[in-house]
Amino acid sequence: MILREVFLSDTAFHSVHVLGFKPARGIVSFRQLFWPYRFWLLLGFFLLLITNAMMLMVPRMINMGVQIIEGKPAALDMLSVLVWLFCLAILGAIIRTFSRRTLFNVGRGIERDLRSLLFYHLSLLSSDFYEKHSVGDLMSHLTNDINNVRLFVGFAVLNFLNLVIIFSGSIPVLISIDGSLAFACLLPFLLVIVSAQMLTGRMFHRVKEYQASLAKLTEHVQENLSGAGVVRVFHQERVEEKKFQKTNVNTYQTALRVAQISVVMFPLTRMMIGLGVAVVLYVGGREVVLGRMSVGDYVEVNARLLQLAWPAISMGFILSVYSQSRASLARLNELFVLRPKIIDGTYSNVPISLIETKNLSVRLGKQAHLALQNVDVQLKHGRVIGVVGQSGSGKSTLVRILSREIVADQGEIFYNNVEGSQWKLEPLHQQIAVVSSEPFLFSASVRDNIAFAKIDASDEEVKDVIEKVGLTEDVAGFADGLAQIIGERGVMLSGGQRQRIALARALLVDAPVLLLDDCLSAVDSVTESKIMKTLREKGKHVCLLIVSHRLSAIRHADEIVVLEKGKIVQRGRHEELLKQEEQLYGALWGIEQLQESLSHE
Ligand SMILES: Nc1ncnc2c1ncn2[C@@H]1O[C@H](COP(=O)(O)OP(=O)(O)OP(=O)(O)O)[C@@H](O)[C@H]1O
Ligand SMILES: [Mg+2]
Repeated sequence: MILREVFLSDTAFHSVHVLGFKPARGIVSFRQLFWPYRFWLLLGFFLLLITNAMMLMVPRMINMGVQIIEGKPAALDMLSVLVWLFCLAILGAIIRTFSRRTLFNVGRGIERDLRSLLFYHLSLLSSDFYEKHSVGDLMSHLTNDINNVRLFVGFAVLNFLNLVIIFSGSIPVLISIDGSLAFACLLPFLLVIVSAQMLTGRMFHRVKEYQASLAKLTEHVQENLSGAGVVRVFHQERVEEKKFQKTNVNTYQTALRVAQISVVMFPLTRMMIGLGVAVVLYVGGREVVLGRMSVGDYVEVNARLLQLAWPAISMGFILSVYSQSRASLARLNELFVLRPKIIDGTYSNVPISLIETKNLSVRLGKQAHLALQNVDVQLKHGRVIGVVGQSGSGKSTLVRILSREIVADQGEIFYNNVEGSQWKLEPLHQQIAVVSSEPFLFSASVRDNIAFAKIDASDEEVKDVIEKVGLTEDVAGFADGLAQIIGERGVMLSGGQRQRIALARALLVDAPVLLLDDCLSAVDSVTESKIMKTLREKGKHVCLLIVSHRLSAIRHADEIVVLEKGKIVQRGRHEELLKQEEQLYGALWGIEQLQESLSHE
């Protein structure tokens, strides 16, 4: 059974476990992770119990062997003792293999569950979350931290169970042989456990520091690799290398601080075992000399003490892995407690034919001024709205609001006359196709990028949208045509080709709302005007909003909205706006016309 069946079964997961997350108030606990695997854990524990019980029989067999050598009466003869020792060794090894496999598999299962839970959770979070968290940091959560949790489940739990079983099996036997000797040789182990307990708290904080530093390192590497071109162009290799070394050294130092504690545990445990052996030699040896203990018992106590050695040594590892995984789970829970800013509603009545904003105001980040202020726009089926304005005037913010990627601080947005917060997000997002000014393409083929949101699209459909965005000739020129791989983020394409593939992707889904955010800025004006003609045709059957810096591209729109510092300062048709003298639109149009005539001279 995996977590997906328990937690991610259906939409109940979304409301109960992610939005409400009732079982543990929004965080994931070890108990929750273990619960689906309780039967496997029990089986692993049971197998460990058997193999350790067999191991605990070995010192008694040795005791008998010594008694036989001494010529004393023993329960078994020498041959039986040897057969027993032989069988215990072989069977013990086989069962131990199965117990390890069972428990390690639980670790791998929990690793998979936690990763899918986190991936799912991240997919629900709104865009403001991604503005605050870097890809590198999230990658570190998905890899390092989850791996640490797995190590605890596999390695630490196995060794801890081992330790508990061996100690609880050995102590009564040791006491039954000689109570005071048992107390004397076990005392050092008690000291190890107490000191381990004391070091755990300190270790936890140091490990957390180390993991945060490791995340910073991943973030740094990720950003530098993505921006390698910029670094090279500005000759900042040395500067960036220095910055990297600073983070690298910091990670190294925090790792050393962790090691300062973990390296102490191992020698400390060895020392305690050494002390235990010395105590047995002194106290036990004296008992043998005085004739109060048999040589067989003395050898058995020694053999049992050595059996306790490895579990005791593993205490140090258990402590360090436990601290690491607790710190990692705490870091993961910092993400799990986050809730999407945009909450899912229940309403859905498609297709959308009307989007209206009323008195919308938006503040982004910690900006002093509003990105949008008292904005009223109306997108209707069959109408084309053009949005213009200078850089930073709020055009992209308006597109993000309309596509419900972000929410307004004030005012309302209605889809088909129903308030946005009441809408179910999935059908709403399916209704709205957006092409942003910086589209993201995947490292896949041209076809797969275009058919991203409609994987079952036929080649004809794909070719049709390619034609509409004027890419037919470009694709014919690619060595592999539609199957051409375009590289990470489409690096193997020109800026204009990238933009048109993104536009083709949006056109293919045939959504009733199409929002285009300056998506042809890198396309030449001749190709742009051809595409615009197609889009105007498309606009007759959808709600279409086009943001553009080139006014000629939206001059035919049914309504043009002019934004300035987040406010609508003018609105109307192209001709009406030109009539309004000494206004922004007229000025922008004048500049554009001048540039046009200069470029033709
Ligand atoms: N995520 C963000 N956090 C904080 N401020 C933001 C964020 N995104 C945009 N802004 C700010 O909001 C304002 C409007 O930005 P917006 O991207 O909407 O402008 P725009 O009109 O699309 O500009 P351009 O024509 O350059 O694309 C700008 O002042 C910008 O600095
Ligand atoms: Mg913009």
